[in-house]
Amino acid sequence: MKTYKLAIAGGGSTYTPGIVRSLMDRLEDLPLSEIRFYDIDGERQSKVVVAAKAVIAEYTDSIKVIDTTEPETAFDDVDFVFAQMRVGKYAMRELDEKIPLSHGVVGQETCGPGGLAYGLRTIFPMVELIDFVEKYAKESCWIVNYSNPASIVAEGVRKLRPNAKVINICDMPVATMRNMAGILGVNREDLVVDYFGLNHFGWFTKVEVDGVDRLPELREHISKWGLLTEDISKIDYRHADASWIKTFKNIKPIMDFFPDYIPNPYLQYYLLPDYIVENSNKEYTRANEVMDGREQSLFETVRKFEETGILDDAFHVGVHGIFIVDVTISIAQNLAKRYLVMVENKGTIPNLPADAMIEVPALITSKGPVPEYVGEIPYFHKAMIDQQLASEKILVEAITEGSYEKALQAFTLNKTIPSAIVAKKILDDLIEANKEYWPTLT
Ligand code: NAD
Ligand code: LMR
Repeated sequence: MKTYKLAIAGGGSTYTPGIVRSLMDRLEDLPLSEIRFYDIDGERQSKVVVAAKAVIAEYTDSIKVIDTTEPETAFDDVDFVFAQMRVGKYAMRELDEKIPLSHGVVGQETCGPGGLAYGLRTIFPMVELIDFVEKYAKESCWIVNYSNPASIVAEGVRKLRPNAKVINICDMPVATMRNMAGILGVNREDLVVDYFGLNHFGWFTKVEVDGVDRLPELREHISKWGLLTEDISKIDYRHADASWIKTFKNIKPIMDFFPDYIPNPYLQYYLLPDYIVENSNKEYTRANEVMDGREQSLFETVRKFEETGILDDAFHVGVHGIFIVDVTISIAQNLAKRYLVMVENKGTIPNLPADAMIEVPALITSKGPVPEYVGEIPYFHKAMIDQQLASEKILVEAITEGSYEKALQAFTLNKTIPSAIVAKKILDDLIEANKEYWPTLT
């Protein structure tokens, strides 16, 4: 039987134990001989690996586990790498959110100025990871990347390492489909959807079950409750935190205005920025909610496990863990399963630039994703995408050229920022905050 060696870069992530459980649930489809955990913060990772090892022990004793901060030890001869790095960790996420909010602008980790800041921190570490993998791993090795901000990371990789075997994925479309399925009372796997856009910036244009169009039913439901079931407790939401409940409810006002398609929930930041800012707590953002919630409960679980030997399932698999493993199995077994992932446009949407990194349905094969032709998109959506794309592409030019002016252009073009004056104020504050991470911009 063929077995695989898999490395997780960003092994200290809050998502690691859930992803490991998902891997264990699918060992028949993806038999593993080794899991290597790699992180630049060895201390954090070692705590998380305690939980990961306890999960693995529930299933098997035949998988070798390596916990390392050495790239060669991590990637030597591996078949797959999962990437889930948060460059600057939660401390920097908090600043990405709070600095823009202090200027009256959306504060979010992947959208608006916070996303641009996180992008400037992440592109070079992502390129470094690709170089490590190309140096040490098998030639056939694929990197399956969750590291955010995925859209900017995807553009950076396209530009700086165009031939790298990286597939950029996001759990938001799958999580949105999980909610749709809950509302319709069907399994998520039974939904057939069409979708186009950029990452965290797209629209579902078709939702069918057994060949029947279920969009009208979803529209009706969303007009009352947003993208949540009537009784929230009836669905197992990973997104059960207060901020996510608000986010799924915000699909309603967006669809009251534009009922044709179902928006990716992150579009709230671009379509309702004033409303979002008015309803944000400048002192306590999503970073605080995660640090006090997901992060704290993971480390508390580890502490308790070390004390008592009892592993509370404070983390669960959820769509996040399921999706990355589904995509990897489709690559490993060349199943050509259809998933929403990021690909280079190359004519898939003829009225967008050929070199845009778009998010669309694609068949996932051992040679990579093969996108399905989408066709021309309406002018409204195209105009929004073009503006966002320009902001992200110019940001990548800013970092590769070390250009302050291009960074300012990228910020000014971002739809969440009202003027070049505000863009400059936020950029200058973010430069100060990111001294340790960003290249010098002159
Ligand atoms: P986290 O802070 O808990 O974990 C991230 C880990 O990455 C940390 O242990 C950190 O030390 C490590 N790291 C930072 N820089 C690194 C580098 N250069 N090399 C190796 N490791 C490095 O973060 P989290 O909340 O668990 O999120 C992990 C990642 O997944 C983030 O990038 C987040 O934005 C992303 N994410 C993506 C999706 C998606 O669907 N695309 C959903 C959720 C989270
Ligand atoms: C966040 O913390 O908002 C992201 O990591 C995504 C999520 O689902 O929590």
